[in-house]
Amino acid sequence: MSGADTPPSPDGLPILGHGVAFSRNPVKAMESWAEYGDVVHLQFLGESMYLVTHPDLIKQILVEEQHKFTIGPEQQETFAGVEDHAMTTATGDQWRRLRRAAHPAFTRERIAEYGDRMAAVTAQFVDEWDDGEQFDLHAEMRRLTVQILGETLLNEDLRGQEDVVIDAADALVDRTNFRRPGQLLPDWIPTPTDRRFRRTVQRLDTLVDEIVEERQGATGEASDDVCAVLLAAHREGDLTLTEVKQNLVAFLLAGHESPSGVLTRVWYLLERHPDVYESLCDEYNRVVSDDRPGIEQYDALEYTQRVVAETLRLYPPTTGVNRQAIESITLDGYELPEGARFLIPQWVPHRDERFWDAPETFDPDRWERNIDRPEYAYFPFSGGPRGCPGNDFARQELTLMLATMVGRVDLDVVADDQLTFIPSVQLRPATNINAEVRRAG
Ligand code: HEM
Repeated sequence: MSGADTPPSPDGLPILGHGVAFSRNPVKAMESWAEYGDVVHLQFLGESMYLVTHPDLIKQILVEEQHKFTIGPEQQETFAGVEDHAMTTATGDQWRRLRRAAHPAFTRERIAEYGDRMAAVTAQFVDEWDDGEQFDLHAEMRRLTVQILGETLLNEDLRGQEDVVIDAADALVDRTNFRRPGQLLPDWIPTPTDRRFRRTVQRLDTLVDEIVEERQGATGEASDDVCAVLLAAHREGDLTLTEVKQNLVAFLLAGHESPSGVLTRVWYLLERHPDVYESLCDEYNRVVSDDRPGIEQYDALEYTQRVVAETLRLYPPTTGVNRQAIESITLDGYELPEGARFLIPQWVPHRDERFWDAPETFDPDRWERNIDRPEYAYFPFSGGPRGCPGNDFARQELTLMLATMVGRVDLDVVADDQLTFIPSVQLRPATNINAEVRRAG
């Protein structure tokens, strides 16, 4: 606990506050602010914000005293006009109702049933690559994760329509990009970014409308994917049709971006750590006897799971979790008022020397060693009741995608030595990570 009345505040520019440093280099800015303390007071364009980086305080906000917090208004602003009736922006009873309705599609048993399809879609996708083919790896991984979402959560072949989802997600990230032109203009002045946003969201809405209408009219085999689960809740009067559709939009947007970003960074790291790639291949050869892995091999792919966990530590895909206090709270000895806003970044505690040996080192084997560290030193999926509902889905998907790829190709990856990130809700690399396919034999 600190002795002062108010949390320390790093120097920022008058009026623009700390947004300028964040805009230049979001992760370096957050790291440098965290040196002032575990709770730090910031100003973004006149808005007050507390940066919280100690695992125990993070646990207090996300779990122990979660009833004193709601999502931050910035989250609602980010998704306004696209997910106004989805769980991403809902609060209170509506949010509880939406989470409850989707839950049957995300139980461990149900997710395990998606496993074989996750690997099959990946195998088919990778088999279409030619030896020597070059591409922007993140763009390619996004097409793959959209296809997997289609095949698992919607029972829908989205090949050829991936851009409908990808363009809407790009427009959303652009909208929250601190560096975008027009970011400082009042909301009522339409910018090219706003117009692009509306256009891409309209296309995504149309795609989801068509899927839902088709499913409503279908008389064939019953399915228990997320679309069926949400439509059943609609029939029982628990969800409106708009809530069904906007939740599907939320799953498509949230469900493709982060896993594809993580897989891209796995390959970026493998390029720099050939020994890790060799160990992945060894495990694959030991564990997988068929043409590709399936859910039966998931538990045995221990090393592959560790590579995924370590990549999520070093390069968490989200900039942070947003919360707002709905009553006054005491945090680290500071009395903070109702309405206080919080940014809880994964990047800083994930690399904090107090909790990690050699935190900058990519070391998948650290997950084998039993180190006593606070639970919330690692929280790529956030935590508590509001934590990511796609957590188990994503970890299983990433493991099976990676193993399937390793069994089929090696990728030569070309990227900046030090990744830098755009200042947005997602920690997206600012420059491309490109890859060239090398087929075995
Ligand atoms: C590597 C993959 C992923 C990471 C790191 C990740 C991370 C996160 C984080 C940090 C949050 C914010 C939670 C909070 O406010 O406390 C979140 C929310 C969410 N995620 Fe994920 N996510 C991933 C994959 C997925 C997938 C695959 C899906 C769906 C299939 C998904 C659906 C969602 C939804 C719907 C929310 C909003 C939940 C709510 O507000 O109740 N995510 N995710």
